[in-house]
Amino acid sequence: MNKKTIEDIDVNGKKVLVRCDFNVPLDENKNITSDNRIVAALPTIKYLMEHGAKVILCSHLGRPKGKVNPDFSLAPVAKRLSELLNKDVKLANDIIGDSAKELTNAMQAGNVVLLENVRFDEREEKNDPEFSKELAALTDGIYVNDAFGTAHRAHSSTEGVSHFVNTSVAGYLMEKEVSELSSAISNPERPFVSILGGLKVSDKIGVIENLLTKVDKILIGGAMACTFFKAMGYEIGESKCEDDKLDEANRILKLAEEKNVKLVLPIDSHIANDFSNDADNKFVDIKDGVPAGWEILDIGPKTQEMFTEELKDAKTIVWNGPLGVNEFDNYRIGTEKIAKAIASSSAKCIIGGGDSAAAVKKIQKESNTTFENIYISTGGGASLEFLEGKELPGIACLNNK
Ligand code: 3PG
Repeated sequence: MNKKTIEDIDVNGKKVLVRCDFNVPLDENKNITSDNRIVAALPTIKYLMEHGAKVILCSHLGRPKGKVNPDFSLAPVAKRLSELLNKDVKLANDIIGDSAKELTNAMQAGNVVLLENVRFDEREEKNDPEFSKELAALTDGIYVNDAFGTAHRAHSSTEGVSHFVNTSVAGYLMEKEVSELSSAISNPERPFVSILGGLKVSDKIGVIENLLTKVDKILIGGAMACTFFKAMGYEIGESKCEDDKLDEANRILKLAEEKNVKLVLPIDSHIANDFSNDADNKFVDIKDGVPAGWEILDIGPKTQEMFTEELKDAKTIVWNGPLGVNEFDNYRIGTEKIAKAIASSSAKCIIGGGDSAAAVKKIQKESNTTFENIYISTGGGASLEFLEGKELPGIACLNNK
């Protein structure tokens, strides 16, 4: 990475603002259901503590729309961080107010303070310069961005603050994410295969176009495949489809042909007569069409086999988005089968996006194995924009080496 990192600066005795992405899933009792993003931030936090910094952490959680809302408090994160660091992490009651100032002014080297949810202030998402300036004023002029998952947002705490400090650098997580994603994209071992799923083609048009200039094959699943089926003239029943994107789908099919990239669509589907886990269901071949009143909820067994075969000799795989409806047990089978195929291959695989990542984590947990060949990015939207080839504002704003 051509950006300075925490190792390039002196933090001893200095108040440092670290933007993390602690946007973690919570259950109804505010228990964290996956602490991956917190664990991923630990190397940066520990390094700064060990090097005598006064570590001021900040993050958003959810989308509280610029208003203070206890449901989106970072209190569960402060608690989990204290456990993981084995050290008291104090949570300020506000972001730049009296509580934040009092706590940060009283810090000793190696202390850690977490500010409240930055999105409790409406100025955060507006990237308001006054708010950015006040965030910067909490520090001794040093800003560390370790929030890869939010690096595609130009907000005060992810971008704006960098204009009001002397030094802006990347943390270890940011550095690792950028290096993993860019090495797959810029210097892949071939064959290089991409798997794309999820709901909408419209979310992925930019990614597909950029990947068509880099990969050897693209496998497409999820509801977004239905838009391609319809564009190709197949009956799709009640399946989710973006009718205003049929021309785009046809354009992409043509583009793939021109670029000599094999674009592989499912050949069969698992369909149901209602959008629910327990509806009547069956398998159909795409060429036979989906009957009226039925909808596609997952790839079928023939497609699972075909995709597995297509992945067999891959050396690099980039995967974003589930291949079926992952919230239903009966319709995440396709995604899990493909996750298993990747796990047992030797290809270097980069996974971005919550649902495809969750499928792999489930398999890792069940088999009690960490798959060394798989890198799971903490970024969903951010990794997609990175794959689109866009410059992310939260990275662009950091000091060059
Ligand atoms: C994410 O979970 O993708 C990031 O934390 C960004 O969240 P946002 O989409 O609410 O900006």
